[in-house]
Amino acid sequence: MKFTTRYPFSAAHRLHSNQLSEDENWQVYGRCNNPYGHGHNYWVEVTVSGVPNEQTGLLVDRRKLDHFVQEEILSKVSHRNLNEQVAELRNVVPTTENLAYVFADWLKSGWGKHFPQPELILDRVRIYETRNNRFEIKANEVKQ
Ligand code: NI
Repeated sequence: MKFTTRYPFSAAHRLHSNQLSEDENWQVYGRCNNPYGHGHNYWVEVTVSGVPNEQTGLLVDRRKLDHFVQEEILSKVSHRNLNEQVAELRNVVPTTENLAYVFADWLKSGWGKHFPQPELILDRVRIYETRNNRFEIKANEVKQ
């Protein structure tokens, strides 16, 4: 069985690669290359899978999951400039593709400590960049 929950957050970024010239950056990223940056109202969606506990009938303690996502992701990116204020993004272009890798990595790092029951697995992370565009990554695509 799977459970998915999602959380909104807002952040600013600029898409710009140091490996490309100014012209190439503009061609690749267009308006998203604006030197002053721009913001997004993102959603991050976390999916866990497992078997509900026999006594409680619950798959996962949702307050614990909320707290975990708050601590591992939202507290690090909410209302931040992703280029400047997030160490793990310092040397990568803060595309939503790259955010997905970083977020999945953060969740995987703390998962076993917060959710020690072996049957409860971090399954997938999705990030909605806009209403129409989303990226997703299976947790097992992230190397630890
Ligand atoms: Ni953008």
